[in-house]
Amino acid sequence: MGGRTAASVDHMARLRVGVLISGSGTNLQALIDDCARPDAASEIALVLSNRSDAFGLTRAARAGLRSRTIDYRAHGSRGAFEQALTDALEAEGIELVCLAGFMRVLTADFVDRWRDRLINIHPSLLPAFKGLDTHARAIEAGVRFTGCTVHFVRAEVDSGPIIVQAAVPVRADDTAESLAARVLREEHRCLPLALRLIAEGRVSVAGERCLIDAAAPGGALVNPAPDAQE
Ligand code: GAR
Repeated sequence: MGGRTAASVDHMARLRVGVLISGSGTNLQALIDDCARPDAASEIALVLSNRSDAFGLTRAARAGLRSRTIDYRAHGSRGAFEQALTDALEAEGIELVCLAGFMRVLTADFVDRWRDRLINIHPSLLPAFKGLDTHARAIEAGVRFTGCTVHFVRAEVDSGPIIVQAAVPVRADDTAESLAARVLREEHRCLPLALRLIAEGRVSVAGERCLIDAAAPGGALVNPAPDAQE
């Protein structure tokens, strides 16, 4: 990330982050809260939504963040829509883009332009359960653990070098909703952790794997106790 290393970060400006949302924005809120730490190495410089009714925009406004809606329908083509996203991000000097519940698939052009500067949070233990309805499919498959993953984005949907994961046990009486709620709680730990690791210069990409600085406090694993309650 722009030559960031753990040793140099103390002397660097905060990493300028753009967050893309489509909905409630609870992951955005987790980032807002984490970036409020006095020693945070990143700041949310822009929030973009593809929907004007996304509650995350209200969260952004409450936090005094700059935000904008960029509606796909106003742009006529994926290329024009994604160019509008990039223009807005570049105008704010964004260095890292974070997809936090952004529900539009991005083209290879956009992904390649932001290669290794674009991260996503996905509600499963990738590479299992790519795509939608991850919790219902995890229950249906009878897996004992599911979870969430923060990864660098590649052109193939829900793939790319994994930065942070949390495992969440699936209970016998889980519904898609109860499981989603427990996974979401871990998402709120994983996404800020991934951003912290990147902003502190502790993440490097080697082929299709991420290497995490061995000195990173807590590493890149988030482990809830198996019997953690709601
Ligand atoms: C989160 O569970 C996130 O992992 C998921 O959407 C939700 C957004 O919640 N993202 C995807 O499914 C991406 N394919 P939030 O708006 O409250 O952060």
